[in-house]
Amino acid sequence: MRAAGGGGGAGRKEVTALWMWLLLIATACGFVFLLLNLPDHRSSSGPGGEQTGGAHLSAKDKLQIGDVTKLNVLPDEIEGQADEIAAEEDERISRSPPSTKEKIWLMQDQLIMARAYLQFASSHGSAHLIRELKMRMKEIERAISHSSGASRLSGSVLQKMKAMELALSKAQRAYPHCSHMSSKLRAMIYNSEELVRAHQSESSFLEQVAVRTLPKGHHCLAMRLTSEYFSLDPKERQFPKRFSVLMDDFHHYAIFSDNVLASAVVINSTIAASKDPKRIVFHIVTDSLSFPAMTMWFLTNPPSPATIHIKSLDELKWLPADFSSRFKQKGIRDPRYTSALNHLRFYLPEVFPSLSKVLLLDHDVVVQKDLSRLWELDMKGKVNGALETCSSGKGYHQLDDLVNFSDPSIINKFDAKACTFAFGMNIFDLKEWRSKGLSATYDKWFQAGKRRRLWKAGSLPVGQLVFYNQTVPLDHRWHVLGLGRNSNTRRDEIESAAVIHYSGNLKPWLEISIPKYRDYWNRYLNYDNTYLQQCNIHR
Ligand SMILES: *[C@@H]1O[C@H](CO)[C@@H](O)[C@H](O)[C@H]1NC(C)=O
Ligand SMILES: *[C@@H]1O[C@H](CO)[C@@H](O)[C@H](O)[C@H]1NC(C)=O
Ligand SMILES: *[C@@H]1O[C@H](CO)[C@@H](O)[C@H](O)[C@H]1NC(C)=O
Repeated sequence: MRAAGGGGGAGRKEVTALWMWLLLIATACGFVFLLLNLPDHRSSSGPGGEQTGGAHLSAKDKLQIGDVTKLNVLPDEIEGQADEIAAEEDERISRSPPSTKEKIWLMQDQLIMARAYLQFASSHGSAHLIRELKMRMKEIERAISHSSGASRLSGSVLQKMKAMELALSKAQRAYPHCSHMSSKLRAMIYNSEELVRAHQSESSFLEQVAVRTLPKGHHCLAMRLTSEYFSLDPKERQFPKRFSVLMDDFHHYAIFSDNVLASAVVINSTIAASKDPKRIVFHIVTDSLSFPAMTMWFLTNPPSPATIHIKSLDELKWLPADFSSRFKQKGIRDPRYTSALNHLRFYLPEVFPSLSKVLLLDHDVVVQKDLSRLWELDMKGKVNGALETCSSGKGYHQLDDLVNFSDPSIINKFDAKACTFAFGMNIFDLKEWRSKGLSATYDKWFQAGKRRRLWKAGSLPVGQLVFYNQTVPLDHRWHVLGLGRNSNTRRDEIESAAVIHYSGNLKPWLEISIPKYRDYWNRYLNYDNTYLQQCNIHR
């Protein structure tokens, strides 16, 4: 567990994480044991308690919930995950005047409650209530999207809130047990939002929301996929067993991600470009919250004829116990830098003990050409085949751009002018890696970096030290960087690249992405997909 002031980015993530928890709990509504994971800090009073019916909470009541220490109620495994998920809506909402803002939060609360009841009602076959809740939810969703940014709420919005409140109290009477749970959860969600507001200046919060978060549609997608996953029979949740998962003469691709659509594009584009997709095995490693959604997506959109295998971080029992939380450093708020999934790349030989080579793709890439030649590349006894960035004129060039050469432990071991390399598309020779013990090298530097400021935040700088003198340069046409910022990358350069990489903040799945680069990504997503349609995700 972390101390309360852990940083606003983390708070934001908790909000999202809690949403997912809510969903899980709503799915299992009635199974109190899940709640045992969520210690109750306020059972005697306040909105979590039984006296206050969940649906009747006024904004005034809510504002009294401010004790940040209660955030410790989060289960450990939620930490360090879901980098890029949160509601984009928040940005617009926070521009609204206070009275509108409060109403919108109230409506969001209503939606959470309604969702919980809906899940419960669905499994208890109360058709009338289901219909009513669904209708009210639609109305409220519409009202929220029309109201954010507005200076005043219209009378019809207030009426809809009232109607929703009635529907919720009906549901509450039908399922008093469920209400207790969801109001408790809702209070926790509110609590973490409160923390975000209390501990972060609005501007830096907004910046993070815009840059590191997913649009509402993606959120909806994750929720829908997750609930469908849990509605499957456990034996339907499995991918067909294939021996290729472990076989070394296949081409193994690793993707560490909690973003379903991003992973879908990486995989779909790889297959579309491959000359021999039967020979491909994709290994997605995701966090425990995203695992159901990720699995559900690929169960319904199998990347045939390739093989896919999805693992959750918490299946990796050999990881240090503090792995998910160890990246939380004081003063570093960007969740990118605290992500366990990001640092998992330094344990590739342990993640894939039976493999000798693996291609690691970041989730913000699109594959445009057959990549099989990378497995035949002469690696000259080195571990990492990567794009070098010293000559490209973009981003970082040499080691002292990323690493602190005032420190004696650095200056004596490394050349400040050494060329840096990029992550995003790397072929790793895991045999060489094992024989050189680079995972231990990583541990050593990571620990040293906790004591002194040796490098800039993130996995890239420490990667430069771990793979120092262990990198073979790839031709620049393999990997074109910078489509996530205004890099003026030429069209022909993009179109002839084997892999294009939306490095930078303007990811192709965000509204703030760069229009001229968007279509290279969009074309690998089938927007007619039912889930995307249901969640209003469009080009
Ligand atoms: C670089 O390292 C030195 C020595 O450890 C330290 O005093 C200094 O604060 C560090 N500089 C930065 C910018 O982190
Ligand atoms: C660089 O790596 C090669 C091959 O792995 C090794 O033989 C050599 O000693 C290394 N050089 C330095 C300066 O570490
Ligand atoms: C994969 O990409 C192709 C275009 O290459 C597209 O037609 C197809 O619909 C995509 N599949 C999915 C599941 O998005």
